[in-house]
Amino acid sequence: MNGTCIQKDPMNDLIQDILSTDYLVLVSPMYYFGLSAQLKAVIDRFYSHTSKITNRHLKVIYIVAAMSDDDRDWAAIEKHLDTLTDYMQFNEVDRIMAKGAGEVYMIDKKYLEKAYKIGAELK
Ligand SMILES: Cc1cc2nc3c(=O)[nH]c(=O)nc-3n(C[C@H](O)[C@H](O)[C@H](O)COP(=O)(O)O)c2cc1C
Repeated sequence: MNGTCIQKDPMNDLIQDILSTDYLVLVSPMYYFGLSAQLKAVIDRFYSHTSKITNRHLKVIYIVAAMSDDDRDWAAIEKHLDTLTDYMQFNEVDRIMAKGAGEVYMIDKKYLEKAYKIGAELK
């Protein structure tokens, strides 16, 4: 949990970037009521650097989009992000859960405005 990853690939460079940034923006579509495998694969690579990452208390913004606007479908992701935030000692800035956003044209303007506002307020 606090060493060197045995995987030798470009993710090691990305981890160095994560360790030298203040902000992390984690973005995913909802796939079968969870995060995408692509984002999960990135999060899984935090493992061998956990202490270094937790010590940074990174400011995190989550953005997830999906077709569903039923809160029951979003419950697992909301809980996952809560638990991840606690475990990784992230400092959550905000989260955008873009509901009813199955295609780009369906995205409610309020989510785009919220993303703009979050970006404009970053220090
Ligand atoms: C494999 C897969 C699983 C999906 N699962 C869900 C789901 O559980 N709930 C939902 O509302 N939408 C689901 N969708 C719809 C996507 O969340 C939505 O269309 C998303 O914006 C697609 O993003 P993408 O084009 O980057 O894959 C799924 C789409 C795919 C391709």
